This record gives sequence, C-alpha cells and structure tokens, in this order.
Amino acid sequence: MSIHNPSPPIRIVVLPGDGIGPEVIAGAVRVLDAAASAHDLNLELTERPIGGAAIEAEGCPLPEATLQLCRAADAVLFGAAGAPRWDHLRGDARPGAAIHGLRRGLGLCINLRPIRAFPALAGCGPLRPEIARESDFVVVRELAGGAYYGAHGRHGEGDAERAFDTITYTRHEIERVVGFAFDIARQRRRHLTSVDKANALWSGRFWRDVTSQLARENPDVTLEHQLIDSFALRMLQRPRRLDVVVAENLFGDILSDEAAAISGSLGLMASASLNPEGGPALYEPIHGTAPDIAGRGIANPVGAILSVALLFEHSLRLPEIAAEVRAAVDAALGAGLRTPDLGGQATTAGMTDAVLAALDLRRPLKVTA
Ligand code: NAI
Ligand code: MG
Repeated sequence: MSIHNPSPPIRIVVLPGDGIGPEVIAGAVRVLDAAASAHDLNLELTERPIGGAAIEAEGCPLPEATLQLCRAADAVLFGAAGAPRWDHLRGDARPGAAIHGLRRGLGLCINLRPIRAFPALAGCGPLRPEIARESDFVVVRELAGGAYYGAHGRHGEGDAERAFDTITYTRHEIERVVGFAFDIARQRRRHLTSVDKANALWSGRFWRDVTSQLARENPDVTLEHQLIDSFALRMLQRPRRLDVVVAENLFGDILSDEAAAISGSLGLMASASLNPEGGPALYEPIHGTAPDIAGRGIANPVGAILSVALLFEHSLRLPEIAAEVRAAVDAALGAGLRTPDLGGQATTAGMTDAVLAALDLRRPLKVTA
C-alpha cells in the first residue's frame, strides 16, 4: 500500500450463493457501485462462491480461504445458500453450514432486521393499510446461541427414535445482545420490547431476569416484556407501537420473517449481522434461495439493496449514503415498480434500474471549472 494513497480501498467480499442469491446480489452490487462512485469511495469487491455453489466449485460450502478473506475485509455482502439438490447432505456438508460457519468465524452474534411499512406499498401486503401504516421498528435477534447452537442429536429406532435440540444461554450471551438492543433503542424512540417464553422455559425465565437487571442500568429506555406466543399476534395487530424488539435466536428468526407481512413481502427485508466487539459485519436479505422462482430473473432485489444501505450505515459509518439508497428504493416503489411478489411484472433488473435512476437524480451535479 502506498503511503501517498489518500484513501485505502474499502474491501468488500461478495458471496452471492445459490438460487436467487446471485440474481438479487447482482442488483445490490450495481447499487453499491453507483452509490460509492457518486461519493468517490474507493471500493475493492471480491466475489467468491458460497453454499451449494462452493460445494460444486471447491468441494465444501465455506472454503477456509473464503472465510479468511472475509475476516480481512471491511464488510461481507451475502445472498442466500441452499437448494433441494443438496438436501441429502448432512451436518457441515450442507450449503446452510456456510451461514453458520460465517457467523461463528466472524463472531457475529447480533442480527438487526429493520421492519418498515413502505408508504408506496400500502395495501400490497396481507395487513390492512391502516394497521401497517407508519410502522417502523427493528428486530434485534440473538444469533450465536439458543436452540441452533445447543446440544442436539437424533438416535434410537422405531417408536423410541428421538431427536432433540437444546436452548441454552449464558448470562454473558444475553447481556451482550440485550445491552446492544438498549443502545439501539436509545438512538431511536427509547422503547424496548423483550420477547421470551418465561412462563414455560427455564431459559426464558433467565432471559427475563437478566433483561430486567439490565433495565436498571438503562433507566432512560422503557422496557416491556412480552410472551412470544401472544406477541406473535400483537405484533401484527399494533405494529406501529413497536420501536426495538429483542429476542433469542429461534424466536427472533420466526418473528422477523412474520414481520415481513408488515412490509408486504419477504423480498423487501434486509439484515445486518454484527460482532459487537468489532470486525467485519455481514449483510444479507433475510429471504432464502427461493427455488420456486430461481433462474427467472423476477426475484425482488430490494431486500439485497437495502442490505447495502445497512452496510453503508453500520460498517462504513456513512448514514447519509444509506439514507440516499433508502430514498431511491422508496422512489422506485413510488413510481409503481413492483416485482411479482408484490403483484407486479417488474424484473429484478428492471427494479434495480429504477433504484439506480432514482439514485442518479438525487446525486448533486458536479461543477467542473
Ligand atoms: P425462501 O425465503 O427462499 O422463500 C420463501 C418464499 O418467499 C418463496 O415463495 C419465495 O419465492 C419467496 N421469496 C423469497 N425471497 C424472494 C424475493 N427476493 N423475491 C420474491 N420472492 C421471494 O424460503 P424457503 O422456501 O423456506 O427456503 C428455500 C431455500 O433457501 C432452502 O434451501 C433454505 O434452506 C434456504 N434458506 C437460506 C437462507 C439463507 O441463506 N440465509 C435463509 C432461509 C432459507
Ligand atoms: Mg429465517
């Protein structure tokens, strides 16, 4: 690296993955490039296969060299991994193991999933517009513990055959994510909803105790506790009252997919996975590889594009550019562009073109001497 270079490149690893992953990531990369060049940012993008694509190309879902590349990067942009043709694989050989390997390898234990009712999409989703209208909250999902990482197994035969997964949390793991959620709430409307199953699970009772203790150190944020089952309904009855919602891994996973009903489609939803101690974060749409529509060029790229907005905000600390990308998405939706998941006919490329056109309009004209 030259000492005369005023700005070292921002290194971003791009992992498109399988199914619609490469389709939506192609759109997201075009938006990333356009927004960066409009602001004279020096990006260095490196693309690598992941999941099924890496099994085909390199023999395993997350090659060690790819993980090392991610560790040395400023941020990672990920599509989705998995498809029926690899469903026979087990354990670490599965495409989905790449996601868990990345989370573990990068220490990503916090997942942010913003939920917003897009003004232009009122009535497009399953909720009545007067219920969804103006909803704007963040689900903070614990990402490194709980049932996905506790002891599991399957053994025995016949009627006695059994399988189990264990929900387990340490105090440290709960404090780490709930403390982060309090911080996020402090930057927003200072309201935190903690979701658990304290009436039935020991881990839920513990979650609630630790969260209540943290509330004493965060008196400027109002904390409420909700039970997961009744909250799953309440979230869709009165989404507008929510600001920040924090939940353990499994509950957060389910709640954030359910919350897509508020926006209108799974294809609109973005996420950021962070390591609170620093290091590269990972950005991805929350949807999977959508085998039912893969290869047709009709996947909604908005979730992937809004993941780029989160990347600008959290990894590059450029919230103004994040706001420009979000405004461009709003403008494209406002102009009537809809992919089939929203009842329209737009293609992935067409939707991306509309976002790029809106970004371009917003860019200040450069005055040349
Ligand atoms: P999915 O999210 O892939 O699809 C669910 C439904 O939503 C499908 O009808 C699909 O067409 C639609 N959909 C999803 N994203 C869309 C988009 N951008 N535009 C338009 N429609 C969209 O979930 P599913 O079907 O449960 O899983 C399919 C595969 O994806 C599985 O192999 C699963 O393991 C994998 N998966 C991977 C994830 C990841 O890589 N992070 C997350 C979830 C699932
Ligand atoms: Mg999920």
